[in-house]
Amino acid sequence: MNEGQDWVYSDIVKEHFMHPRNYLKGNENQFEYDAVGMVGNPICGDQMRMYIKVVDDKIFDIRWKTYGCASAIASTSALSELAKGKTLDEALKISAKDIDNYLGTLPKHKFHCSVLGHEALADAIKKYRENS
Ligand code: FES
Repeated sequence: MNEGQDWVYSDIVKEHFMHPRNYLKGNENQFEYDAVGMVGNPICGDQMRMYIKVVDDKIFDIRWKTYGCASAIASTSALSELAKGKTLDEALKISAKDIDNYLGTLPKHKFHCSVLGHEALADAIKKYRENS
């Protein structure tokens, strides 16, 4: 593989970037959530917010917003699909590798972008538990 191909995105990454799942359009008041997690990526300075609605200790619904890149958008879209319906403990176990597998692999140097959504989700779950 030559260096230029390191930037090639899989079709599923492009699809999630163009049509992100569970993206919060507009104002956060348009989504009824129980907790919000926030995180910044120290590598690039991008930010992520993750909103969760919890019922019976499961992620009943989820929304997110980011100022992140295409990889962050696609990987958080995938994460939101993977997390929906899972218990909070199960959702915490979703790894960057799981997201990478779901998306058919991200370019290696963009792997750090897939961590952003997971960290925001972990922060949302932590805040939910602190306030429950
Ligand atoms: S470059 Fe910042 S999240 Fe990808």
